[in-house]
Amino acid sequence: MDAATTPPDGGRDLVVVGGGIIGLAVAWRALVAGLSVTVLDPEPGDGSTHAAAGMLAPATEAEFAEDAALHLHLAGAAHWLSFAADLEGATGVGVGLHASGTLTVAHDPDDAAMLRRVLGLHTRHGVTSRELTVAEARREEPLLGPRISGAAWVPGDHAVDPRAAHRALVRAVTSDPRGALVARSAVHLEQDAGGRVTGVVDDAEHVHAAGAVVVAAGWASGALLAGVRDVAVPTRPVKGQTLRLQTAPELAPQHVIRGLVQGRPVYVVSRPPAEDGPWAGTSELVVGATSEENPDDRLATAGGVFALLRDARALVPSLDEAALVEVTPRARPATPDNLPLVGATAVPGLHLATGHHRNGVLLAPLTADLVVAGLTGTWFDVESAAADPGATLAALHATDPRRFVPPVQDPRTPDGAHG
Ligand code: GLY
Repeated sequence: MDAATTPPDGGRDLVVVGGGIIGLAVAWRALVAGLSVTVLDPEPGDGSTHAAAGMLAPATEAEFAEDAALHLHLAGAAHWLSFAADLEGATGVGVGLHASGTLTVAHDPDDAAMLRRVLGLHTRHGVTSRELTVAEARREEPLLGPRISGAAWVPGDHAVDPRAAHRALVRAVTSDPRGALVARSAVHLEQDAGGRVTGVVDDAEHVHAAGAVVVAAGWASGALLAGVRDVAVPTRPVKGQTLRLQTAPELAPQHVIRGLVQGRPVYVVSRPPAEDGPWAGTSELVVGATSEENPDDRLATAGGVFALLRDARALVPSLDEAALVEVTPRARPATPDNLPLVGATAVPGLHLATGHHRNGVLLAPLTADLVVAGLTGTWFDVESAAADPGATLAALHATDPRRFVPPVQDPRTPDGAHG
């Protein structure tokens, strides 16, 4: 176990690179565990956290043949409930956890056939979901449009407000005298002669000495670590665009609506009416998301916005009445196997919490507790994370940050493989 050790020169127990929801969740849980923590980020929360809709949707985002991801996501969703309560209790800041279930809607008959295959996937993995008639779906959600071919109810898929959760985490970290959030970029890691990571150098050439470093820098994590031997962090940006609309509460769906429209996935997340601010009394709707193998160019495209609105209003026509107040293009951090990199690397003092792709918000609490267990050398209780401990354990192993490091070549054998 590579537990954090405080550097002798007044440094911190821990430096976290990246102040999005993942990095701050790690930082807060590390503070709770008794570590001193600095978080480095020039614009905390302005990456994929800023675009995220906040669906806690292990079932409705389940993919065929991605069993490890499904069980990881189920554990992540289970972890959110206590995390939200703890965070709200510690900070007094609401995180907007909306445990109202998800209504999945199919637009045409082919979409309905696909929805039934997804329900079969749920059954095979013990996930609760139930097919509804179109009439039942309309009773549940009267705002559904006229052209619906099928529906299902997924009671365990909820939503949280990622921006509110991030505000709460900023409060939690900055109000602790052992916590600091520094508006600087990490430029490279410092290592001692034995290869142990001893700190982070920022863009003002200040060295942040640390007993351990957690890199939670989203898709940029790979570039930051490119010069570090014995780690391989193949993160890449996958651009997503989300839309934020404001509407009268009576025109906001009661549940998260997830849809398939001619094979294209779309979702509408609705929040309770705002209590204050410029949109007091209205409900925020988040519509998402595009998925583009493009860099983080921060450009909203006409085609992206058009496609999202076209598909979302096919399911919920009352969107036409809403004010479109924000288009948010940001890149998710993806990995080659669509699983995150979580925990200790082979480099002493270096831990990862990145590569969460479409599930950064969902997996933030679970990631934080896994990473902090590794940092403090404490036991992570898989039993508390999910209903199926065996499948959950396998899923957690699948996030091993060492899995992309090429095997060591042995020059004594002709093909360089181990003899
Ligand atoms: N999890 C939703 C998305 O990435 O669009």
